Amino acid sequence: MSLFATKSIERLLEESEGKGGHALTRTLGAGQLVALGIGAIIGAGIFTLTGVAAAHHAGPAIVYAFILAAIGCAFAGLCYSEFSTMIPIAGSAYTYAYATMGELLAWIIGWALVLEYAVGAATVSVSWSGTVDSIFKSFGIHLPQAFIASPWDPNPGIMNLPAVLILVLISTILIIGIQESARFNATIVVIKVAVVILFIGLGYFFINHDNYHPFLPENTTGKFGEFGVTGVLAAAGQIFFAYIGFDAVSTAAQEAKNPKRDMPIGIVGSLIVCTILYIMYALVLTGVVNYKDLNVTAPLAVAVDAMKYGWLGFVMKLGSLAGLTSVMLVMLLGQSRVFYSMSRDGLLPGVFSEVHPKFHTPWKSNLMLLVGVAALGAFTPIAQLGNLTSIGTLCAFVLVCIAVIIMRRTRPDLPRPFKTPLVPFVPILGVGFNLLLMFSLDSLTKIAFVIWMAIGLVIYFTYSKSRSHLQLALLRKK
Ligand code: ALA
Repeated sequence: MSLFATKSIERLLEESEGKGGHALTRTLGAGQLVALGIGAIIGAGIFTLTGVAAAHHAGPAIVYAFILAAIGCAFAGLCYSEFSTMIPIAGSAYTYAYATMGELLAWIIGWALVLEYAVGAATVSVSWSGTVDSIFKSFGIHLPQAFIASPWDPNPGIMNLPAVLILVLISTILIIGIQESARFNATIVVIKVAVVILFIGLGYFFINHDNYHPFLPENTTGKFGEFGVTGVLAAAGQIFFAYIGFDAVSTAAQEAKNPKRDMPIGIVGSLIVCTILYIMYALVLTGVVNYKDLNVTAPLAVAVDAMKYGWLGFVMKLGSLAGLTSVMLVMLLGQSRVFYSMSRDGLLPGVFSEVHPKFHTPWKSNLMLLVGVAALGAFTPIAQLGNLTSIGTLCAFVLVCIAVIIMRRTRPDLPRPFKTPLVPFVPILGVGFNLLLMFSLDSLTKIAFVIWMAIGLVIYFTYSKSRSHLQLALLRKK
């Protein structure tokens, strides 16, 4: 069946050479790739979700949730590494699926990645706006409610203007160039990692060991997710968001100088750095403040107050503001690169793959994304749908793990500069862990995900399938 026709790797690589002035340029080195990963990872998740997850689900055992989510990510990261060295193309998971499982599944992954990157960026833009608001408040300035909330927020406004402004700034940088974007990102990464390390370093001296007892509070209600083992699981699903982003490194594969060597360094390296930071952060946070007092969206502020360093609170807010900025940058970078690949395959309109003659970036795609993502950030209660980003990402992770096993069977001959260890065990464990995290998410998220996928299938069958270059080539052959 043509829906399951795959694209050959040879053809993918040939097309990525970009004849006809469509090429992205190869300028990124290993350090910049690690920075891109960290840029995308450390953000709203660690700065806001940790507290609520500890208070509602796991207590200090939130640390186990971070370890559990990291294991799922590590398995997926190893699978992404194999593909991104074998097919160093901007489409990432979408392209890997096209080469292994056929066009329909490629479309499904591409569509799920919109949840990860575009919806993720919109969610983070709203957190960014909330942080700006709280910084102003700390100076006694109250921004008008009409311009800091959407009409559908619990405390409604007209539009979320700061969210729009930051997205405009980021899109401008993305259009100007990949090197400029990478440099901007690297600067921010230094700031936010420094802030997290500062918090860990100072917080360590304020740990009250009584707060660690009980480390894993008992589940007394018998309900799933309310402490105990299932609580750790539910917390892992919730804080998974904090790890999202290392896979975005693979969307820069077509702009990496030496993807064969540097992709695994970027993907696995950024994941390792962030996992270590997260575990230490969670230990310090729940050590400084009792988990019962962490049921707030700004847990860091509560912990800093407990540490009695007035100035630190302000530094933390600035750090998290910087952190959120780079998350949006890398997410929007990733989204435009996935759309670039989908457009070059004919599944999306050609305008998504038009590269600017001077800047070498898919600038029209960046502009259209800006309109869509800014509308989401400005006018919808998107922050309440943040788990959609997680479920979309987990779906892509599961399919990429499966794709590694398929590719080992269908094309054992291909050179693999990086090999996922212990295949099929690692990919199978990757599928298992990530499915587990998917199921631990709330049912509203699952329903919204199914609706999103159904919309995607309608678009595929009414628009993309009849325009697909692969389908057209198959028809010509008949
Ligand atoms: N990992 C990113 C964040 O937490 C998406 O903001």
